[in-house]
Amino acid sequence: MKDSTKIADATPLDDISGLKLDTSKPYTMEEIYFFEAKNITMATLKYLSLVPDKKLAPFSFEWLLLLHQEMFGDVWEWAGKLRQAELSIGVKAYLVSTEIKKLVDDVKYWEQNKSFDVVEIAARLHHRAVQIHPFLNGNGRWSRMLANIYLKQNGLSPTRWNENLLSKENLHRDDYIKALKQADDGKYRDLIKLQANTI
Ligand SMILES: Nc1ncnc2c1ncn2[C@@H]1O[C@H](COP(=O)(O)OP(=O)(O)O)[C@@H](O)[C@H]1O
Ligand SMILES: [Mg+2]
Repeated sequence: MKDSTKIADATPLDDISGLKLDTSKPYTMEEIYFFEAKNITMATLKYLSLVPDKKLAPFSFEWLLLLHQEMFGDVWEWAGKLRQAELSIGVKAYLVSTEIKKLVDDVKYWEQNKSFDVVEIAARLHHRAVQIHPFLNGNGRWSRMLANIYLKQNGLSPTRWNENLLSKENLHRDDYIKALKQADDGKYRDLIKLQANTI
């Protein structure tokens, strides 16, 4: 990436421990992002080409981790593994696994009780998943993928997020982060609106 300020708001990749690529080469962050994108494409094909049934995408604790592994496992050793370290964002590391289990149960509860419509469940799932921040990195892409798989499984199209969510210069990114912060206060309206922008 030529202008490093563009990624100021994203997790810095100065920590390349766990990088599965040949680390004797000086990869730029842009190149690593490209390898990640290539890896993520495999998961996109697996889950979004056809309607993913409950067997393929069960929305269980194990599957939530597996999805992260499938998205980042070619590039990072820690893919699909719950973080042990504290981050500036997310719940305390020792709470991650309990919080994910709670989220899995909540999704089931919302479905059974028809608490919310499909788009709102997708938005809440996305927000809670990224709020927990279970992994060292990739939480944003993983949580948006989760929501998209949920939408597709329930007969809707995936959300069209702006391609360049990594870039701070992107106006949509500011709106997106604002909507997530509103959701932190229980106000889901703006995030639901963004989530409803389907392909
Ligand atoms: N204040 C914030 N700044 C940046 N990202 C935030 C903020 N609040 C929540 N997030 C979420 O965290 C994600 C970034 O987490 P990260 O683990 O780096 O994911 P990724 O590597 O996929 O971008 C964002 O895409 C967004 O979903
Ligand atoms: Mg990141």
